Amino acid sequence: MEAEIITRFLESVGQKADVDLYLKLFRAQKKESFAVICASARIVQTALDPFHFDLRILSGLGLTPVVVVGLFEPRDADRQAARVHEWLLEDQVPAQIVPLLPALSPPLIEVVRETIHMNTIPLLSLEPSRDAPLEARFALLRELVTGLESRKVVFLSTSAGLVRDGLPHIPVVNLESDYDRLLRGGTLTRQHASLLRHGKQLIDLTPHRVTATVVNPLQLLRELFTINGAGTLIRKGSRVESHRGIDSLDRARLQALIESAFGRSLKDGVLDRPFERIFVEENYLGAALLLQTPVGTCLSKFAVDRQAQGEGIGGDLWSVMIRDYPSFFWRARPTNPISTWYLKNGDGVARFPDWHVYWRGLTVDQIEPAIRQALAAPIDFVD
Ligand SMILES: CC(C)(COP(=O)(O)OP(=O)(O)OC[C@H]1O[C@@H](n2cnc3c(N)ncnc32)[C@H](O)[C@@H]1OP(=O)(O)O)[C@@H](O)C(=O)NCCC(=O)NCCS
Repeated sequence: MEAEIITRFLESVGQKADVDLYLKLFRAQKKESFAVICASARIVQTALDPFHFDLRILSGLGLTPVVVVGLFEPRDADRQAARVHEWLLEDQVPAQIVPLLPALSPPLIEVVRETIHMNTIPLLSLEPSRDAPLEARFALLRELVTGLESRKVVFLSTSAGLVRDGLPHIPVVNLESDYDRLLRGGTLTRQHASLLRHGKQLIDLTPHRVTATVVNPLQLLRELFTINGAGTLIRKGSRVESHRGIDSLDRARLQALIESAFGRSLKDGVLDRPFERIFVEENYLGAALLLQTPVGTCLSKFAVDRQAQGEGIGGDLWSVMIRDYPSFFWRARPTNPISTWYLKNGDGVARFPDWHVYWRGLTVDQIEPAIRQALAAPIDFVD
């Protein structure tokens, strides 16, 4: 399929800016880290058409996921994997069945990696482990995810995502805050409760940061290429540390994080400013730096590592920050795509050609001086 047709198709799925953003993010990652997609026999039986269309589009975009068949129901997975393979080959989408005998081992992970580097979708059937318990198959999945440093594990579902009786699907599960409540509530189906439990274990035990998604194959592309997504995103939830000044922080990591987020180098001396408070995600994937000014608190930098953007870390930082700082102001470029979210989370905005200045919790008297202060602040990045 021609690249232009694919891009046009994606734009019908989400806004052009979002699609471009995600394409850029996915392409900036290591090729083999893009995603592992788990498809049950049921999906292959009932939704092979949309699923194979998803794979065709992803392959056309140069994104190569690993497909795992038979995680929950390994019986018959060989045959189902062969069907997916046939359909893909019929459409000239490069794909290859990678046999899983006797188990996953470092050489096998290497084969998967090499297959991906040849732009060929590896298909793994878990039928050889059909007599093992579900835990063992999830352990295999974890080895694969760890070996490839996969960023995303997608569980295809016949439902729209994780669903509770009669309610719309759950868009996001933050494991820190939602997990116990969801399982205790007893409203998830047995299979979804099991998926959530195993998904949490997978996320907790994988050494790098990974998210899980439950989504219908009809919505997979919308899930991957739009900010709001379309299925259920299961994420760890960030631990945010609060520092009173920079001395207790790793300055080089903080600088690398900010430069990765903005895609530009910081000018010398910016991190020497007397920041009153710095909130940092525990692995330096996100930070909010606050300065005290004569007219109130200024959010001087708000940044999430480029590779981790759109996964909720910014939102986690924000909610910790506003607990301690009910009032502050900040500025952003008019073209910054985050502006809609700033509007939702601020009390007001003043728009100027070079900057939009936002505020939250300020009194009427504080607003004008805050705007002046924000507009007069120096540019902190090298052009
Ligand atoms: C702005 C930034 C800190 C947000 O952090 P993040 O971890 O990517 O954001 P989250 O995933 O927590 O999303 C928070 C909200 O912003 C929205 N959002 C995130 N990225 C977005 C984008 N590129 N375009 C539009 N909305 C976006 C999310 O949908 C979410 O909204 P919701 O709560 O209504 O669903 C991060 O994208 C970043 O570092 N950007 C580059 C640096 C920058 O521009 N910083 C701000 C300068 S003022």
